Amino acid sequence: MAVMRLGYLHARVTNLAEAKRHYVNTLGMQVVLEQDNRLYLKCWDEWDHHSLMLEEGGVGLIKLGYKVAKAEDLAYFEQKIEAFGVRTTRMSAGENLAVGEGIRFTMPSGHLMELYHEMEFTNTAVGLVNPPLFPRHLVGVGVPRLDHCLLKTDDIPLAERFCIEALDFKPAERLVSELGDTGELMGTWLFCQHKTHDIAFVAGEQGRIHHWAYKLENWDAIRHAGAILSMDDTSVGFGPDIHGLSRGDTIYFFDPAGNRNEVFAGGYETYQDFPTVTWTADEIPRAVSYIGREIAENHFTVDT
Ligand SMILES: [Fe+2]
Repeated sequence: MAVMRLGYLHARVTNLAEAKRHYVNTLGMQVVLEQDNRLYLKCWDEWDHHSLMLEEGGVGLIKLGYKVAKAEDLAYFEQKIEAFGVRTTRMSAGENLAVGEGIRFTMPSGHLMELYHEMEFTNTAVGLVNPPLFPRHLVGVGVPRLDHCLLKTDDIPLAERFCIEALDFKPAERLVSELGDTGELMGTWLFCQHKTHDIAFVAGEQGRIHHWAYKLENWDAIRHAGAILSMDDTSVGFGPDIHGLSRGDTIYFFDPAGNRNEVFAGGYETYQDFPTVTWTADEIPRAVSYIGREIAENHFTVDT
């Protein structure tokens, strides 16, 4: 019984053609399908049908899809989510293109989430038999896969408790105002399998998203990504730098609509017995930007 990973993310963009230039030419995602003002995209090392759906009209997150390990997990989590006090509805196969049946609910943080078990398998760009290390003709950054998201909520303790009690996630790292009982929870980074985080929450308006991230192989790939972002005049938030929190290498940047993306590498593996790491507010500069320690104001104020 387990949630495995963030499988798909649906977001709004103001202009689909501009978004296509960013996600295809700059990031190197592959177009799976374009129809009815919607663009379905996937990364080269992903085997499912798609991981990103962009819809023209507005900006920000529409919903998140997390994939569970077994078909029977849907009923298991349905019961746990309902027991937490959050209403779920069943979604049928095909409601989402190429996605099987699942459950849908709004998390206490105001974000729409779906759990599903099946998505049409369309293979990776390198295949599964004697695969080359990477596709020979990658475009732009050449992002291999979608990784995680950071969401905003006005009740971080509740969002964390929901993920722990209803979804069986565990907090890898937490940010508190100070140590001890008087410390306020200012952020939480939770994992379901072995990442440093599959979902995270910081303070802000309900239902908003801070960023979604693509996992790159290593620091060299981050460096390469930075070069591509500059070549394409992409608006960069900050980086390259290292997060103290999660030890990930990072660059934050914006798509043409203003949605924030991240390329992320490194980090460490987590396990079910991983003891939670705590950061205190006075160390936020190193937690976020270990080398530079100067973070653009927009990192804390801009979300979609
Ligand atoms: Fe991130």
